[in-house]
Amino acid sequence: MLLTSSHTVRGDGTRDGDTPGPGAVPALSVRGLTKTYRGGFTAIEALDLDIPDGAFFGLLGPNGAGKTTLIGAVCNLVRLTAGEIRVFGHGHESREARRLVGLAEQEINLDRFLNIGEMLVYHAGYHGIGRREAQRRARELLDLFKLGSKANSRHTELSGGMQRRLLLARALMHRPRLVILDEPTAGVDVELRAEIWRYTRMLNELGATILLTTHYLEEAEALCQEIALLRAGRIVARGSPEALRLQFGVGDLAGVYARAMAAEDGARAAGGPP
Ligand SMILES: Nc1ncnc2c1ncn2[C@@H]1O[C@H](COP(=O)(O)OP(=O)(O)OP(=O)(O)O)[C@@H](O)[C@H]1O
Ligand SMILES: [Mg+2]
Repeated sequence: MLLTSSHTVRGDGTRDGDTPGPGAVPALSVRGLTKTYRGGFTAIEALDLDIPDGAFFGLLGPNGAGKTTLIGAVCNLVRLTAGEIRVFGHGHESREARRLVGLAEQEINLDRFLNIGEMLVYHAGYHGIGRREAQRRARELLDLFKLGSKANSRHTELSGGMQRRLLLARALMHRPRLVILDEPTAGVDVELRAEIWRYTRMLNELGATILLTTHYLEEAEALCQEIALLRAGRIVARGSPEALRLQFGVGDLAGVYARAMAAEDGARAAGGPP
């Protein structure tokens, strides 16, 4: 829908005056992020990270590295201890930022009282999308994710893989420009994994920025243009898969991962405990 030549309303409802156009600012900009949980454990420490608009970005690291904490901070699920997060230039707590981000969480976290069609419509309503448009999008996404025949089921009646697809559908309902997928392929079968790869590539080609976490290094290698390795709340390596392979002198990302983590262990041992 065109208002004036300089005020085009995009599919996500933002105007040119509100949010800079493609490529003008990073999709995500994190500065000095620290998260200390109640009880005193610091999961993320003074972390800086920029993800360019349009990137397919992989965030890798062992269990407990802080990936979900970082994502939670971006999505206002985790309160920052210190630092600043901007989403396409907007403060992460702003309405604009919330509208620009879609999250498929690591934990399957779905409303047990609504059927899955209603759940999608409800989610869209939360982002200010009218009921009729929301119903149209819900039908479209349920078909895309092969859940059309289950629209009247509750999520408890879906298989685990179907629930993963539903999480993805929900994350896309408000057409976010930054799509965050926290281990979307954990525990899914070969076929669904291939579908998720295809959907996320398609989304990226259509202009969405993707932030993906995964423990499958071959998945990151296949999908991501850029990767950050996180270890104990700090980024220990970052670059394209090719640049990382060159930097660490190895033939694949599994080698990069092993070397980066070993180097970090060595540095810790040399530095000793504080
Ligand atoms: N609510 C919480 N309270 C206290 N500590 C927490 C909380 N949530 C996470 N942590 C701790 O923060 C650290 C980072 O956890 P996080 O879930 O961010 O890791 P992750 O990189 O996503 O790991 P995984 O690969 O297992 O999903 C862990 O040591 C975890 O125990
Ligand atoms: Mg996690």
